[in-house]
Amino acid sequence: MDRELLIQKAMKARENAYTPYSGFQVGAALLTDDGQIFTGCNIESASYTPSNCAERTAFFKAVSEGIREFQAIAIVGGPAGREELEICAPCGVCRQVMMEFCDPKTFEIILAKNPKEYQTFTLKELLPLGFGPKDLER
Ligand code: THU
Repeated sequence: MDRELLIQKAMKARENAYTPYSGFQVGAALLTDDGQIFTGCNIESASYTPSNCAERTAFFKAVSEGIREFQAIAIVGGPAGREELEICAPCGVCRQVMMEFCDPKTFEIILAKNPKEYQTFTLKELLPLGFGPKDLER
């Protein structure tokens, strides 16, 4: 897996973030099992609630194209205009969406400051004891 490329794609996607209310811009790049990359940015709304995180934008783009198998996601975020980014962890709602489509033991979440500085976590680490599709099997 080319983590550096994934982070670069997330940084590029962040440039499209629409954040007139928070000014906090996030980009994500989602790697599918078959090697495609879907990117996403956060998109805010004047009525706040409909705002969508970068991670979910990337997931929903992929799923709406018929893809449901994923390996990893790179995430970058920080205030608009700031050059140096800090680690930006996904919100609880996005972790839950990941739980819907990903194997928590293997899906890798790459939290990056830049293409060279990043930390990786499994979904299981970021959402321990997560409730997912398997819990509804009977
Ligand atoms: N946001 C994301 O897009 N992803 C995250 O991982 C954290 C938060 C967005 C939501 C909102 O548009 C802005 O960042 C501030 O919360």
